[in-house]
Amino acid sequence: MWLSCTPKYAVASFSRQIFKSYFHVLGRWRCNVAAFMPEAAGFEGVWDRSALQDFSVSDSESFWAAAARQRLSWIRAFHTVQDCDLSRGQIRWFEGGKLNVSVNCLDRHVHTCPERVALIWERDEPGSEVKVTYRQLLEMTCRLGNLLRRRGVKRGDCVTIYMPPCPLAVASMLACARIGAAHNVVFAGFSAEALAERIRDAQSSTVITVNQGVRGGKLTELKATVDAAVHNCPTIQQVFVAMRTENPVAMTARDVAMEEEMLKEDVVCEPAAMDSEDVLFLLYTSGSTGKPKGLVHTQAGYLLYAALTHRYVFSYHDGDVFGCVADIGWITGHSYSVYGPLANGGTTVLFESTPIYPDPGRYWEMVQRLKINQFYGAPTAIRLLLKYGDQWVHEYDRSTLKTLGSVGEPINTEAWEWYYRVVGDGRCPVVDTWWQTETGGICISPRPSDPDAEIVPGMAMRPFFGIKPVLMDTEGKELTSNDTSGALCIAQPWPGMARTIHNNHQRFIDTYCQPYPGYFFTGDGGYRSKDGYYQITGRLDDVINVSGHRIGTAEIEDVVNQCSAVAESAVIGYSHDIKGQGVYAFVVLKKDVDIQEADLSLELNNMVSTKIAKYASPDFIQFVRRLPKTRSGKIMRRVLRKVVDRDLNRLGDLSTLDDPAAVEEIIQGHRELCGKQQSS
Ligand code: WT7
Repeated sequence: MWLSCTPKYAVASFSRQIFKSYFHVLGRWRCNVAAFMPEAAGFEGVWDRSALQDFSVSDSESFWAAAARQRLSWIRAFHTVQDCDLSRGQIRWFEGGKLNVSVNCLDRHVHTCPERVALIWERDEPGSEVKVTYRQLLEMTCRLGNLLRRRGVKRGDCVTIYMPPCPLAVASMLACARIGAAHNVVFAGFSAEALAERIRDAQSSTVITVNQGVRGGKLTELKATVDAAVHNCPTIQQVFVAMRTENPVAMTARDVAMEEEMLKEDVVCEPAAMDSEDVLFLLYTSGSTGKPKGLVHTQAGYLLYAALTHRYVFSYHDGDVFGCVADIGWITGHSYSVYGPLANGGTTVLFESTPIYPDPGRYWEMVQRLKINQFYGAPTAIRLLLKYGDQWVHEYDRSTLKTLGSVGEPINTEAWEWYYRVVGDGRCPVVDTWWQTETGGICISPRPSDPDAEIVPGMAMRPFFGIKPVLMDTEGKELTSNDTSGALCIAQPWPGMARTIHNNHQRFIDTYCQPYPGYFFTGDGGYRSKDGYYQITGRLDDVINVSGHRIGTAEIEDVVNQCSAVAESAVIGYSHDIKGQGVYAFVVLKKDVDIQEADLSLELNNMVSTKIAKYASPDFIQFVRRLPKTRSGKIMRRVLRKVVDRDLNRLGDLSTLDDPAAVEEIIQGHRELCGKQQSS
């Protein structure tokens, strides 16, 4: 009523005011979300970050199409955003598009800022870091690309890289990408046999390695390991050898002195125009059967996902120094030491050493010296350093740090608090990032879309853009309520996900797509809190996680069973206060075997180290007369786990056991073994 008697000018000014403030707020939000993510400016109805998150899931095609156009340089535009059918394991993104990953990681930054540092190689010896600019890295990559081409490596071939983190390893990955070959990086801690198995499965004709590795002040004979491996690899034609140390190694006719030959090559190398869905790399990881699987990642989708997650999860800004201390032999090294940071034109650290070399202050001394802004490490290292005490941290200036990241396994509250309070001085958000080799990049982490959001210690919390996590019950139905646990699946495809298992698409379907048709099954269990946040509770399959390294118990059993004295074995993971999980092997000997148990333990440990890797070697080997089995002959691992966890009240239903007395013996033997190890 009062409006009618208000003078006209007052109404006009009043409504102007409303409009002004409305537009002001609107403008700020729009500007806020567009400044945060430029492509969001074009999304209908997306005013703020939570709307952006919703939009990325409900209209993931528009979201990813805009991101792909904005973030990647294309040789030819894509015509189809996605063509996916999870139930058949068909995943295709950005079809019709052509691009080159090395151009996206190098050339476009050389155009704008050639002298910006791309890599800081933090060598084993502290204070001897080497900086490589974008111009230099492009040059290195081109020379190596030309060399590979001249030596017969073609588009579609697969090159195995067995190197520690170093600029030439990155150049090798990018050189493959430049000429359209796939790479297969094998962690340089793997044994000759494990390397050979991966070379054979990938059908590589070329291996790239270094004469020796240097880690924690010790030399490792990498070239000799390659020699032993390729002996059993009929496909291998040549081995490129770079010199990490000055010590000469024996070279054969098959070997190529890499740096020498690179010098003869041109610094310009024509990039191959790759289809979005051509293979970028294979990366082997353990599954629940004995044979490791070569997960396949392709070009555009992987690169886009690595780049976007790197930028938003860690709040990476231009000019920051990003320090991911993972080895390039793991997916973390691929996505967050190499592809993500380089696609973003960032400066990335390649860490060659260990957290305690030359002393437990190494990480923080490095943070101070290199002025690292985002530090990304593993809970196992945090737990180890925590035990050495705070003084190692306090000694160094960590004021450049802005974000702390954790990856590889659940981070316990104690380690989280120490990381946050002591390392980060309570200033830096800690992001606990959940993902896998299969997911290509981070899928769940505290702050993908909001740099100010609340963080709960020890929780991965929120899905990244375009990710829709769901929990499934035992019947395969989606659990919709909060405060509930189930099998963690992802309900719709995203560009970073693996496309297949090399040479075994059926295994890909069986492992990831069959268990919950229409969903991607992660193999992990998850809990969704009352507030809707996700917490990862651990693997649901026979895969264990030792110091953030994944290993299938079946893989270890296969090796143990190869020992002529062994009849059968069962390997389980148990909780270990530094490594997260340790390896515990139960071994049944053949009848009439006359050998000291201690000698046999040593032999079995050796076998696992030389056939797989040191980290897989059992911490405990318990010799038993028989294993607990069901009447149909299945080993009851659940019972073994309970014995080792000392959870004897919850052994569960033993009525299906073939011979319940076996359990008593095992309990007794376990007590004796632990007593022995403690006193020794
Ligand atoms: C498995 C994947 C992703 C790079 C390193 C490992 C476990 C990983 C977390 C985390 C709880 C985690 C899962 C997963 N995992 N990150 N933040 N919280 N668990 O890659 O070798 O493919 O292993 O590591 O069990 O499935 P990966």
